[in-house]
Amino acid sequence: RLSRLDIHPVIDSTNRELMRLAAEGAPSGSVCLAERQTAGRGRRGREWVSPFGVNVYLSLLWRYPFAPSNLGGVSLAIGAVLAEVLNDIDPEGVDVALKWPNDLLWRRRKLAGLLLEVAGESQGPCHLVVGLGLNLRMTAGQGGAIDQPWASLEEVLGDGFMVERNALVSCLLDAFMDALDHYGREGLAPFLPLWRAHDAYLGEPVRLLIGEWVIEGIHAGVGEDGSLLLDTPDGRRAFQAGEVSLRPL
Ligand code: BTN
Repeated sequence: RLSRLDIHPVIDSTNRELMRLAAEGAPSGSVCLAERQTAGRGRRGREWVSPFGVNVYLSLLWRYPFAPSNLGGVSLAIGAVLAEVLNDIDPEGVDVALKWPNDLLWRRRKLAGLLLEVAGESQGPCHLVVGLGLNLRMTAGQGGAIDQPWASLEEVLGDGFMVERNALVSCLLDAFMDALDHYGREGLAPFLPLWRAHDAYLGEPVRLLIGEWVIEGIHAGVGEDGSLLLDTPDGRRAFQAGEVSLRPL
């Protein structure tokens, strides 16, 4: 459960801070939030634009007794749960979709991103920092430096909806902690139907960028281990998250 909560007006990166605290022995369930990040980190070494006071920048530390090699599916599990929490804000449902492995999209624009960082001995134990950046009420000016189409939750929900940020964060933390606990006992399997229900590009032509290497095919969903399945002229191939990036064609 939640064991420590630090809220910073400004910090370099909530993920980096929690990785530091983890190395000093911070307990599982430690949380770090910030109003602004000066060095927000995205996947694949990218920057996460983090203006003051308008979004959610959240990191959660979780410890597992087992080896880090068991965590291959955890980012999809968290992505699925994030999609569900956002979807449940509006009784009519919010049309959020997941781009493998765990980008959250609305109308093909990025609403939130997850960065999971793992550390530990190869035989275990290990720990994991789940980092969430969720756009809430960022203006075009504040998000000007973002190099891809993006959306914010207030725009998604439309007029008449007030997003109470503290309530939303508390909901997200509850859901993430439940999911991390559940994942520790049962792995990715219980989350797969949820992830698949929100798959953004299923059946569509996509391009995978793997370092300098590019491969195209039809997105055939995710495998039992959370890998991306791609139908290519050479048959069906599976890819692990790592440094892979998926783009619609
Ligand atoms: C991505 O889509 O590339 C992942 C973005 C993750 C951003 C969040 S913001 C809070 C936490 N701290 C960071 O430095 N990054 C994550």
